[in-house]
Amino acid sequence: MTLDIHLLRKLYPALSDGTAYLDGAGGTQLPDSVIDAVSDAYRSGLGNAHGEFPASRRADKLAAEARLAVADLVGGQPDGVILGPNMTTLTYRLAGALARQWSSGDEIVLSQLDHDANVRPWVQFAGRHGVRVRWAIVDTSTGELPVDQFEGLVNERTRLLAVTAASNVLGTRPDVRAITDIAHRHGALTYVDGVAAAPHVPIDMAALGADFFATSAYKWSGPHIGTVVADPALLESLQPDKLAASSNSVPERFETGTLAFADLAGVTAAVEHVAGLSGNPGQSRRERVLNSMAAVQAHEEAEFTVLLDALAAMPHVRLFGRPASRTPVAYFRVASRTPQQVAARLAARGVNVWHGHAYAWELTQALGVRHDGGAVRASLAPYNDADDVARLLRGVEELAP
Ligand SMILES: Cc1ncc(COP(=O)(O)O)c(C=O)c1O
Repeated sequence: MTLDIHLLRKLYPALSDGTAYLDGAGGTQLPDSVIDAVSDAYRSGLGNAHGEFPASRRADKLAAEARLAVADLVGGQPDGVILGPNMTTLTYRLAGALARQWSSGDEIVLSQLDHDANVRPWVQFAGRHGVRVRWAIVDTSTGELPVDQFEGLVNERTRLLAVTAASNVLGTRPDVRAITDIAHRHGALTYVDGVAAAPHVPIDMAALGADFFATSAYKWSGPHIGTVVADPALLESLQPDKLAASSNSVPERFETGTLAFADLAGVTAAVEHVAGLSGNPGQSRRERVLNSMAAVQAHEEAEFTVLLDALAAMPHVRLFGRPASRTPVAYFRVASRTPQQVAARLAARGVNVWHGHAYAWELTQALGVRHDGGAVRASLAPYNDADDVARLLRGVEELAP
């Protein structure tokens, strides 16, 4: 099935402002169904969780439905879906809980390819517990994260391996399954950052070998909510810092304070939106999600090929990375302009792109651009069309010296 891009774009009110939103890697726009779900939740009367009155029961229901929806998106178990404000906060929380079981002499393996949210929490907790950090290196000429190096990085002392399912700047999709297999062979847990992958490709966290799979709803047309999904039995074995008064059940023990219940209505609506893009009404939501994401991937790949080939052909453009398998994000510099100048010129033409290091802290250092303004990042979302791409290309073409 293919996406009906004209129909799809009509569902997103923000797109009617005429902007080419090529900034989706930083956060996507929302369809009316998600915006309505959030406002309807407030309109219906909303209480805090676990009370005996209808407004409280509605809050409980919104949280339960969001867990079911996220589980359908990533192929996890609803009782293992931790909800929170964003992926970074949840990763700090999980790192704190996991690190309680680490001791001096243990090791963890991190990758240079990762967003800093799947690096710094681990580095900081490792430092407090005398745990050695070992690094998987990126081939900066291709942007690949070679798998074979992991054999030399993982051993019986490794407690955790954290790796991204897609780079948020180069788009690189490493062979996560091969990497997690190596970790599991040595008894290490795996924490897979799916924030930049889940918006673009079908996800099956079990097939990826992810003990923990993190994603953020605001990257797939949902509200600003983060989630980490794991086997509930694994979560039972971990004890995070928490209030004495709060629930110690799983997954709630990982959720500090009050959840953003209305936004959770938006999370469920966003998964319904994804499922409705190309799914067959007779199928389960999980099946519809998988079909739809395959259609999203095909649509984005077609648009991205045009974008990438045209940028590669411009003599004044330097593209970073050429990974074999990637999500639709291009990271580039333009001769004689800073990335900020390029972003500003494009913004003046109604084209949104990001500039800078995009929190790919280690990677941009390895690429040699972190202290020099980073680069320009243009990324596609399902609602981007050929016109958005053409406008970007015209804007960059105009910047030829
Ligand atoms: C790959 C990746 N990981 C993690 C994050 C952090 O997500 P959050 O903003 O939900 O903390 C981002 C945000 O851009 C990202 O792109």
